[in-house]
Amino acid sequence: MRRFLPHRWRRLLAILAIVIVVLGAMGAGAAAWLYRGAKQSNVGDLAFANPLAVPELAEPTIDEDGRKVFDLRFTAGESQLVDAGPSDTWGLNGTYLGPTIRAERGDRVQVNVTNGVDEATTLHWHGMHLPARMDGGPHQMIEPGETWSPAWTIDQPAASLWFHPHLHGETAEHVYRGAAGMFIVDDPAANVALPDTYGVDDVPLIIQDKNFDDDGSLDDSAPIGSTVGLLGDTILVNGTYDPYFEATTRLVRFRVLNASNARVYNLGFTDDRPFWQVGSDSGLLERPHETRRVQVAPGERAEIVMVVEPGDETVLRSFGPDLGMGWNERFNGGDDTFDILQVRGTERLDASAPLPDRLAAIDRPDPADAAATREFSLQGTKINGHHMDMGRVDEVVTEGTTEIWEVTNDHGNAHSFHPHLVHFAVLDVDGAPPPPELSGWKDTIYVPPHTTIRIVARFDGEADPDTPYMFHCHMLAHEDDGMMGQFVLVEPGDEPGDVAEHDH
Ligand code: C2O
Ligand code: CU
Ligand code: CU
Repeated sequence: MRRFLPHRWRRLLAILAIVIVVLGAMGAGAAAWLYRGAKQSNVGDLAFANPLAVPELAEPTIDEDGRKVFDLRFTAGESQLVDAGPSDTWGLNGTYLGPTIRAERGDRVQVNVTNGVDEATTLHWHGMHLPARMDGGPHQMIEPGETWSPAWTIDQPAASLWFHPHLHGETAEHVYRGAAGMFIVDDPAANVALPDTYGVDDVPLIIQDKNFDDDGSLDDSAPIGSTVGLLGDTILVNGTYDPYFEATTRLVRFRVLNASNARVYNLGFTDDRPFWQVGSDSGLLERPHETRRVQVAPGERAEIVMVVEPGDETVLRSFGPDLGMGWNERFNGGDDTFDILQVRGTERLDASAPLPDRLAAIDRPDPADAAATREFSLQGTKINGHHMDMGRVDEVVTEGTTEIWEVTNDHGNAHSFHPHLVHFAVLDVDGAPPPPELSGWKDTIYVPPHTTIRIVARFDGEADPDTPYMFHCHMLAHEDDGMMGQFVLVEPGDEPGDVAEHDH
């Protein structure tokens, strides 16, 4: 048995040990450097120099059947978004974002969507209750030059919905270029006295994060360590960089839409003033919820109402969101702080009607009526072990039934779960009743790592065994990686059809 290593070997081992120590130190240094560098902020960089752009309201024409007809055209072009060269962008009826569509419950609407760009795309009505073939998901492709004209009757609670492309594998890119807009549903019968003068005291805030190269071009690369994809260092609100909003009324309602690819915002004011959350994705809350923070994940919306003082000046800021991710929180935007919008008040403010105590009656489906409970396990970028397949029907739901969907995030990544067609009520989060901000109608929900959220929804609608609805993660890089599945709505006892045949 050899008791001593030969001298030569010992020297080799010593050198090896030194190399390991040096590399380890470099590794630790590099890790520390990466960790420090992963924290992003724009606080102190902004002058709030630009008035917030407010997307114009789309003007419908009324056809002979009394339908409100809107025209949207995908348009490519250059937009001067930041103080650099112009960016190549997409918009609807313009080169960045689109107009706001506003319609009422009970309206029959038609939207003529023309693809004026040189790639196939789709336009999906996020949060809208409509027949599957009108949904604008990956199966309703619009080829360049084509016009697609979905029509439906609006029948759902008042809410701030939105529209965006949904081409399989390309959603992140198409949304990032700027093709998106808000679809406001009003319900005159609900008769709630909330601020509703568009652009004055009822203002959309479409929040997006971007990375710009020095020449102004949009950079879509994800930062090192991110498991959710792109996280930009520059914030645009309604396409405006460095924005301020001048309030002229005592109360202002903001319809916040997180139209970012992956970034989660945790919004509040820099002076920590309280405000009210009055709505979530798919409807108004039962009553205003006084709070100092509201968190929105990609795809989610929150309606808030703030009190403005004469001569006021405050900043809406995203404080570090709570992603529940542990050590990798930092690499996914969890420690980032971004100023979003300065709010100024004029010296004389117009009076506003007082905020009502009751906003909506929420007719929650009774979980005891559930005809089925389905489990959705989110792992990596798979749902129930599968990546998306356009030709596979993952779930068959009977029209007119109530279902419980139990969504579990089994791993450490961050996901934002969104089923098409329905709005849902949250039953519980890891067994606990939902907090006030999750107590209204939702259509998208952040599912933190190692958490189970149970939701309940009524699957009313038009049965169509051949055309699927999607359910997916709204972190757009995950969706494009295949974190999506399909369900069809069928008559009782019916079988699903052959969905792939109906691609085009
Ligand atoms: Cu916001 Cu499947 O969509
Ligand atoms: Cu959707
Ligand atoms: Cu995800």
